Amino acid sequence: MDYDLGSPEFYLGDPAPAYRALRHRSPVHWNNANGGSWAITRYEDIKWIGARPHLFSSAQGVNMQDPNRPSGGVSKMLITTDPPRHGALRRLVSKGFTPRQITLLEPGIRDIVRGALDRVEAGVSLEFAEGIVAPVPTRIIAEMIGAPHQDWEDFRTWSDAVIGAADPDIAMTTQEAFGAVSHYFQHLIELRESSRTNDLVSILLDAEVDGEKLADDEIVNFLRLLLLAGNETTRNLIALGTLALINHPDQRQKLVDDPALIPSAVEEMLRWITPVTHMTRIATEDVPFRDKLIKKGQTVVLLYGAANRDEDVFGADAEEFIVTRNPNPHLAFGTGEHACLGLSLARLEARVFFEELLSRFSGMELDGEVVRMRSNMVPGVKRMHVRLSPAVQEAAL
Ligand code: HEM
Repeated sequence: MDYDLGSPEFYLGDPAPAYRALRHRSPVHWNNANGGSWAITRYEDIKWIGARPHLFSSAQGVNMQDPNRPSGGVSKMLITTDPPRHGALRRLVSKGFTPRQITLLEPGIRDIVRGALDRVEAGVSLEFAEGIVAPVPTRIIAEMIGAPHQDWEDFRTWSDAVIGAADPDIAMTTQEAFGAVSHYFQHLIELRESSRTNDLVSILLDAEVDGEKLADDEIVNFLRLLLLAGNETTRNLIALGTLALINHPDQRQKLVDDPALIPSAVEEMLRWITPVTHMTRIATEDVPFRDKLIKKGQTVVLLYGAANRDEDVFGADAEEFIVTRNPNPHLAFGTGEHACLGLSLARLEARVFFEELLSRFSGMELDGEVVRMRSNMVPGVKRMHVRLSPAVQEAAL
């Protein structure tokens, strides 16, 4: 068995059968493709590795090189920093991301979502992923960072370019996108040098690690990480979550009947979709693992999507989409030291989106094919035409 885990095609087909085969027959599996790497597919193994950043480092990058895509290089970012510096950096910014802080954003998020859904005309086919969903997370992050509203469209072009550079529809190269983003953030830092506000740029400018201020390039990299980590992921959770509700009308009906189930449905969407397919680590020493030896310098690929279908944890119905699933200890946000910093924000955005969507439109159908984004890390939705209708009209038909 050799799987090309670096290829977008692997994820755009249905990877579940390959994941199942690997979990059952070869949970620590060497693939020759793409320079060689170990595929890790069992839940408990991914948890074990995630808990040992001293053995499995993030410093040389955390995602597989896409063979179709030039490398953007490994930047010094929170996500590519190992302990102990990682913890110090993370503490600096985590203040802005505690569940309590994030709750304060709810009214603003609801306004943004309502504004997006106001553009939907009942019964008329419209492009949903790019047209309705995508602007929502971009705008929210832009606001947190402190970027002026009129810039959010640029943000989206750059983050699309960085995440989906293998996609033929995206004209910008990864390097160009990185360059544009960095230039923009540098400009924002210069503005905030002279007039602080309460946005993230201002917080980072005042922050110190071990008595030292962060260098401008560290701030730029952190902002870039937020943009990249928070945009495509949340957008695809919502777009593919909507698709899951379209394809499972019985589950959708449960949410219409009892909206209090929406938070649990969001967890199931996270598990079932797993918007971030994988993260990688490099072994810092030889590590005997199950019946294999992971050698120093070798890459391990943590396939979160495979762990999220692990029958040992989620039971015999692990491959089904069940909005009432409980417990649901999925790994869609990763695990350990680097687990997603934005998870409360992502959960809130998705909950508010589905509360607003389902209260207006419980009738939903696809209109045509879903066009996916070619990416090995966040293989999202590029275009998805849907027709939405209010529940009342549907009942009257
Ligand atoms: C559905 C939405 C999201 C998913 C599925 C997701 C997934 C992930 C995953 C799997 C990791 C782990 C990285 C690793 O193991 O190396 C991660 C880390 C991270 N995420 Fe998210 N994420 C989402 C939304 C967000 C949002 C909204 C933000 C912020 C605005 C964000 C910011 C981050 C940051 C900064 C890290 C790095 C944390 C660290 O290295 O300590 N994410 N995310």
